[in-house]
Amino acid sequence: MSNSRILIVDQTGQLGGGELSLLDFARHRRKDCDVLLFSDGPFRERLEQAGVSVAVEQGANDVLAISREQGLWSSLRVVPNLANLVWAVAMKSRRSNLLYANSQKALVVCALASVIGRRPLIWHLHDILTASHFSAAMRAIAIRLANWRASCVIANSQATADAFAAAGGRRRAVVIHNGIDPAPFSNVDAEAAGTELRRQIGCGDSPLVGVFSRLAFWKGQHIAIEAARSTPDVHVVLVGGPLFDEQAYEDKLRREADNAEVRGRIHFLGFRNDIPALMSAVDIVIHTSIAPEPFGRVIVEGMLAQKPVIATAAGGALEIIEDGVSGLLVQPGDAGALAAAMRAILASPNERADLACRGYESALRKFSLEACLAATDEVVDVTAGKSARRRFS
Ligand code: UDP
Ligand code: GLC
Repeated sequence: MSNSRILIVDQTGQLGGGELSLLDFARHRRKDCDVLLFSDGPFRERLEQAGVSVAVEQGANDVLAISREQGLWSSLRVVPNLANLVWAVAMKSRRSNLLYANSQKALVVCALASVIGRRPLIWHLHDILTASHFSAAMRAIAIRLANWRASCVIANSQATADAFAAAGGRRRAVVIHNGIDPAPFSNVDAEAAGTELRRQIGCGDSPLVGVFSRLAFWKGQHIAIEAARSTPDVHVVLVGGPLFDEQAYEDKLRREADNAEVRGRIHFLGFRNDIPALMSAVDIVIHTSIAPEPFGRVIVEGMLAQKPVIATAAGGALEIIEDGVSGLLVQPGDAGALAAAMRAILASPNERADLACRGYESALRKFSLEACLAATDEVVDVTAGKSARRRFS
């Protein structure tokens, strides 16, 4: 174990995949890290339950209100608030020998704070920096700050690392795939979970597929609803909430779900904390993102739940699934192809079992949580160590 102390900064108190991945790392390093969030929420509670020291920096609201699509000039009005936030982070960083930014807005604040606090900075990049996810201004700011201040960038997939380089990122990006603990998935009684979910939604013995992503346009739940139109006996559970200001999209999905062709077959379960049980309860886990998924924890989780997984062929999904071997890939946005893949799996119990079995073995092998934590430890400790050597030489 090293003697690096880390100040980890994340902008949100919500439980997105970036936060769940950080939860594992912060739990693992709880003796030598402090987490600072820019807003309160269930993420703070989960960190506390894990024994992690966590604080919420109040007064970050203006900075948080900047959207991913916002331009440069309209973003400038937050400067006074940003300055206070930077100062607060710089002061807190004095107890640590490393700053670790786990999100885009955290990077902006940490990069500036790292100058005042004179601490090295790691940016854990969970996003694909392209026009389909961020405005040109947001990308330019993030890239410039990373090039200027980050000692190292951790990318959650090769696709994320490639997009970073293509956008002008010059810092070394170390690819560390998320690791997922298989235990919660193997501890589930799948039969009981299936019976309970089917009873709750009243779908009888009909085929049941599930999407397990937060409700957001780019996550493509509307494609799952469209696919359900041409698979008339299939029921779909949409598990996830509109975590980041996506209420309008949920309203739109609910209207689409009320269409006569699918009415009664689309079930909104909201944000849930029992993903392993819910995944074990469905026949197929589907991933429907219409923009490249930076990594895609839900894909690996579906494999660990020993379900056949259908995912969209872009971004991190291509690093997780080998098409036809450990799952199936379809083109993003192609509801017809998704429906055909669902039909093929449902029609062949043998193929279903084989895909699930190979997917499970592949996920266990490639996405071990221990390997992910060890790789992250190495980046953290090497970065902190190098900086200490520079200071004392
Ligand atoms: N998740 C959850 N409850 C929900 C829906 C999703 O806990 O109701 C979890 C899911 O199990 C996964 C994470 O949220 O671990 C989503 O991560 P992913 O990388 O798939 O996508 P992101 O939302 O980070 O883009
Ligand atoms: C982000 C990405 C998701 C990834 C997660 C964890 O939220 O959208 O694809 O799996 O971070 O790295």
